[in-house]
Amino acid sequence: IAPTTTMKKLLVDVHSHIYTTRLVSLLRSRSVNPRIHRESSDGTEKLAILPQEVAGGRTVGPQYWDVRNKVSFMQRHAIDVSIVSLANPWLDWMDAKQAVTSAQECNADLEEYCHQATQLFGDAKGSTIEPERRMRAFGILPLAQGVEVDEVVKSLDAIKGAPSLCGAILGSRGLGRGLDDPRLEPVWEKAAELGLVLFLHPHYGLGSDASQPDGLWGQQDNGHVLPLALGFPFETAAATTRLILAGVFDRYPQLRLLVAHSGGALPILSSRLASCVAHDPHVCNRLEHDPRYYLGKLYYDAVAYGPEELEAVAKIIGRAQRYGPGAADADVKLGIARMHFGTDHPFFPPTRNDGTVITDDQTEIWRSVSENVEAIDSVASWSDADKHAVLGLNAVSLFGL
Ligand code: URA
Ligand code: ZN
Repeated sequence: IAPTTTMKKLLVDVHSHIYTTRLVSLLRSRSVNPRIHRESSDGTEKLAILPQEVAGGRTVGPQYWDVRNKVSFMQRHAIDVSIVSLANPWLDWMDAKQAVTSAQECNADLEEYCHQATQLFGDAKGSTIEPERRMRAFGILPLAQGVEVDEVVKSLDAIKGAPSLCGAILGSRGLGRGLDDPRLEPVWEKAAELGLVLFLHPHYGLGSDASQPDGLWGQQDNGHVLPLALGFPFETAAATTRLILAGVFDRYPQLRLLVAHSGGALPILSSRLASCVAHDPHVCNRLEHDPRYYLGKLYYDAVAYGPEELEAVAKIIGRAQRYGPGAADADVKLGIARMHFGTDHPFFPPTRNDGTVITDDQTEIWRSVSENVEAIDSVASWSDADKHAVLGLNAVSLFGL
């Protein structure tokens, strides 16, 4: 896709989820989380995935697995290209053998999903992008307990060779011992060598015990609000920090890591992180640079829902320059160039006045989408070109769309 002036508002969604129908069948066959079940009193099908799941999970419908629904959603919101990824908790819960087989099957299914989307887009109007370029996917890696790291490396090679896959999504647990597990070294090496984007996404929600009702930390049931709004971003911040502190970006400066939800809590805490590192005798001499430098090596989605937050994140990324080898001036443009529009569809669907969720709509404009578009559109200090970049052109260049 060549960025031309005719593409005034190219919209690329880098954060959009699905479950493959094969994975949905597997989840339906399970009796423990993660699973899809019909046991709740409201009679709806529920997806119960989070460790601290409330109300039996969240109501799900075809928007979670049906490509026709994704295409309709894209058309309705003027999204030109989506890069879909499997939703959490990926293959984390599988045994090693099943994870390896499932990763291969999922990646084949994702390829087919993109192909089906091409057929559905057909010659539909509404985008200047050719139908066969409008759906791409992050592949899935066989990251689960007991998997040999060689299998993960092989999977990266397979993803690199797959026409519709342009990176891989991963959670924060790795092979069951987190992302600073030394066994993962060949994974970072391979991903950096292949230039594949790794999309780091939360699932467990750090501090999930503090989200529970009737506990030491509080009494009220707040639904999914605390784990999603606070636990997710903190998990992302902790996982990214572990990668930084393990020296992964010193050894693989070319590694391309896209961090969910605008880096979670990391950007706003990065100077505190730098100070804690500087004052800790175990860590202070470990890294080649100030921790803030590494924030400028990462890529971020723009799923932050507010213009002030986006502006702050871009500034924080841009000032990473000051902590680099050349110690150049902070440059917010460098931050803006690393941010990418996303929706988190099909999570955060619109709700009706009675609080029920719309699970298979074909007509609604989703607040969770328009809020993120408007947030980008209304960042006070960004030019039209900056907004255009974050809405789509940055993704075109990062993923070579
Ligand atoms: N809730 C989830 O479980 N995953 C997401 O990606 C967003 C919300
Ligand atoms: Zn997400």
